[in-house]
Amino acid sequence: MTKLHIVVIFAVVVFATSLENKCNVPPEFWCSSEEVARDCQVTEQCHRYYEPKAKTDKVQLTLYFESLCPDCKNFFRSQLTKTYTALSDIINLTLVPYGNAREEKDASGKWNYTCQHGEDECVGNLIETCAIHLLKNISVYFPFISCIEHDQFGTPQFSAKKCAKQQGIDLQPIMDCSTSSLGNSLEHQMALKTEALNPPHKYVPWVTLNGVHTEEIEKKAEADLTALICDTYKGSPKPAACNKKTGLHHSWREF
Ligand SMILES: *[C@@H]1O[C@H](CO)[C@@H](O)[C@H](O)[C@H]1NC(C)=O
Ligand SMILES: *[C@@H]1O[C@H](CO)[C@@H](O)[C@H](O)[C@H]1NC(C)=O
Ligand SMILES: *[C@@H]1O[C@H](CO)[C@@H](O)[C@H](O)[C@H]1NC(C)=O
Repeated sequence: MTKLHIVVIFAVVVFATSLENKCNVPPEFWCSSEEVARDCQVTEQCHRYYEPKAKTDKVQLTLYFESLCPDCKNFFRSQLTKTYTALSDIINLTLVPYGNAREEKDASGKWNYTCQHGEDECVGNLIETCAIHLLKNISVYFPFISCIEHDQFGTPQFSAKKCAKQQGIDLQPIMDCSTSSLGNSLEHQMALKTEALNPPHKYVPWVTLNGVHTEEIEKKAEADLTALICDTYKGSPKPAACNKKTGLHHSWREF
């Protein structure tokens, strides 16, 4: 090897290293991104700078619904499942299965629920509420609840059985929860969340976007939820699914 060879190799190595290590910026930029902070070995110190931004980036979407309402099922089928599947990285989705139900404390101190579409609907709300609580991971419970809501004719018990089997979910603990005092009090939390809405809900499905409900938001959510989420999301780059044009849909709701 000549001296020149050595110099060339050295230059290449230095160049390659500088490409790989992103800590090639002045100290005031060390917290500019997670990668730079990592390469500068200041992850701990920088956390509070990029953490809040990463959190507020997600669009907060909450759906107030009830298990057997045809309009809610339509919302899952025509909008929510497709949009959430494509955009789960930028949506913080909260499901509140209660809707137009009513609750009353009975003599034993338990809550007695009365549902718009009959007793089966209360059972469905409880199954879904217990699934959220027990499965914990929305990547697991969203497909399960979505599958139940896509079922047009079965009872919630029947749909839950079918969907659990399809998705390898252990249904027994969920069913046990749905008839237990735990399930009873979890559903009460759903009632409280629904009753805390301001303005109060007038129909279901009822959507809040970043905590806000307006007629305009609701109409957009029911017509093209993907576009609504993509327009609301301020982070960049936007996910690829935001660049596709989607058709408009009819909207449905139940009073
Ligand atoms: C997601 O929403 C829940 C409320 O349903 C909230 O407690 C949580 O902080 C949110 N998380 C993010 C990352 O926005
Ligand atoms: C629950 O409420 C319904 C409707 O108000 C009522 O008919 C029923 O007796 C109540 N059940 C219990 C256990 O209190
Ligand atoms: C949630 O479930 C998904 C899909 O099964 C899995 O990839 C992911 O690691 C889980 N997340 C947590 C925090 O367990």
